[in-house]
Amino acid sequence: MSYYSIKNLEHYFKAYKKSVKDPKAFWDKIADENFTWYRKWDKVLEYDMQEAEFNWFDGAKLNITKNCIDRHLAKRGDKTAILFEPNDPKEEAQHITYKQLYERVAKMANVLQEQGITKGDRVCIYLPMIPELAVSVLACARIGAVHSVVFAGFSAKALETRINDSDCKIVITADGGFRGSKTIDLKGIVDDALENCPDVKSVLVVKRTNAEITMKEGRDHWLQPLLDMASGNHVAEIMKAEDPLFILYTSGSTGKPKGMLHTTAGYMVYTAYTFKNVFRYEENDVYWCTADIGWITGHSYIVYGPLLNGATTVMFEGVPSYPDFGRFWEIVEKHKITQFYTAPTAIRALAKENLDYVENHDLSSLKVIGSVGEPINEEAWHWYNDHVGKKRCPLVDTWWQTETGGILISPLPFVTPTKPTYASLPLPGVQPVLMDELRNEIEDNQVVGSLCMKFPWPGMARTIWGNHQRFKETYFTAYPGKYFTGDGALRDEVGYYRITGRMDDVVIVSGHNLGTAPIEDAINEHPAVAESAIVGFPHDIKGNALYGFVILKETGAGRDPNNLRKEINELITDQIGPIAKLEKIQFVPGLPKTRSGKIMRRILRKIAEGDFSNFGDISTLLNPEIVEEIKENRI
Ligand code: WTA
Repeated sequence: MSYYSIKNLEHYFKAYKKSVKDPKAFWDKIADENFTWYRKWDKVLEYDMQEAEFNWFDGAKLNITKNCIDRHLAKRGDKTAILFEPNDPKEEAQHITYKQLYERVAKMANVLQEQGITKGDRVCIYLPMIPELAVSVLACARIGAVHSVVFAGFSAKALETRINDSDCKIVITADGGFRGSKTIDLKGIVDDALENCPDVKSVLVVKRTNAEITMKEGRDHWLQPLLDMASGNHVAEIMKAEDPLFILYTSGSTGKPKGMLHTTAGYMVYTAYTFKNVFRYEENDVYWCTADIGWITGHSYIVYGPLLNGATTVMFEGVPSYPDFGRFWEIVEKHKITQFYTAPTAIRALAKENLDYVENHDLSSLKVIGSVGEPINEEAWHWYNDHVGKKRCPLVDTWWQTETGGILISPLPFVTPTKPTYASLPLPGVQPVLMDELRNEIEDNQVVGSLCMKFPWPGMARTIWGNHQRFKETYFTAYPGKYFTGDGALRDEVGYYRITGRMDDVVIVSGHNLGTAPIEDAINEHPAVAESAIVGFPHDIKGNALYGFVILKETGAGRDPNNLRKEINELITDQIGPIAKLEKIQFVPGLPKTRSGKIMRRILRKIAEGDFSNFGDISTLLNPEIVEEIKENRI
């Protein structure tokens, strides 16, 4: 029986059972029947959860772009692969067929090779949501270079850290980017970042905004003339199953960002399989995921998953509020979108606006709607289900992470009955467990525990670039023999999972993971700041926002607090990006600390939330009196 495309609940249970009883046979068949290989594997899986070593499809040879593009050419050559919808609704959409995509990727691959980029080299991509972004990603994969896409909202400093961490040789960027009514000076940001990146030898620049920029002689090249000269054919590099495909940075609760490394065959099999089932993609569908390719959602479910299935995937350059709050729904109507995948923060923002924005558009093309990035609250779930899905389209609440490569827990549309706020059941091949503080498996229902996975799946990250020890410690040590997700979850009586949120110092703001430690590091650089602690608190639209408790030095004492707040947020914008700005900043004389000097964030979280009950035992604090004082001056 084929399990590539799950038809109904019974079929799902059969697939699930098979995938747990004999995972190797399960993935063997899926990989065998649905992809193009130069050579098949000798072994499906070898692994060691203690050492965090995973080897999927050992011995296989492939190129993922042959699977994303070449193999579709015979049947789908003239089908739209990428449908580009520009920021400005007056600018025409572009339909890039599979044939055209082949040629564009081939040209880009040839240009990269002419620039001296070869298999294994790292390429930094810092682009807005324009077709060149997807083309660059695929061109890297074509030649075996490792792409590291950095979200084009990150600051120069954040870009610099990421370029240096993975030692990228080249940066692909644009003269600028359009976002709603704003233009972003991307090239200027790259220039600043590169002052401290000695190993970057060349920069390729896409023309998008026609902004005036400076081109550094010998280093910077306009991309288009190089593409014009390049051949439109390219022989793909032959890759091994575990060769690196890309690095994508995600925030950790401490220290510098983690460059999660994904490899070739397992990621390919997993993203293709999950895309097909979670969105129930059918041949003439037009699928739209509103994420940015700078995040994992864009990698797996704008580029790879859809193209592996020969789908039409929409790339949208703009924002949901420009030129007005009807933009998403206008695009759904215009391109007759069948699957629509977005984030709870966007839903909450749009739900606050007049319902006419939705109702003035014909959304009857929609078949499936999806959510990703953070827990979707009940109200947002119902609004989305009622007004966008019209109670007709299953709402798939998809839980996963940068680290997991693809969706792990989600309803399958027209298969799994949905339940508001529940991500529901694990996909075939996924074996979740909930663990208690004593590291025992929780068998009971409705008890929150640490969400772990007790068996590997093909799409999982293989390491943190350059730091396998950190990979092991972060994910495989807290619960030995298991992968720890960092999230809390509970299970209901029928086995549905509900994700309750992060259990560490990562806060999800508008769907973006932010580690609090790097933000504290940024603030502490302010000359008037002695120490700071940042926590998340609930926010109507963003899901969470950041609350900073800041101790000033003597030099800050007489200064205007509002000016200081502004300067602190400017520092954060410089060091990380505007997404990490603090919503509230309270100046405090001290922070609650344990006798060993650790800040008690649990208490600060409660104060930020405005929940003054149940602080627990604070008598063991070094300075219990400070709690009262902070509480009284809360903003
Ligand atoms: C959270 C995004 C609840 C979770 C794909 C996870 C979710 C983190 C959901 C990963 C969901 C993502 N319900 N929480 N449907 N999806 N999360 O790496 O806390 O940007 O650990 O990957 O987002 O965020 P990341």
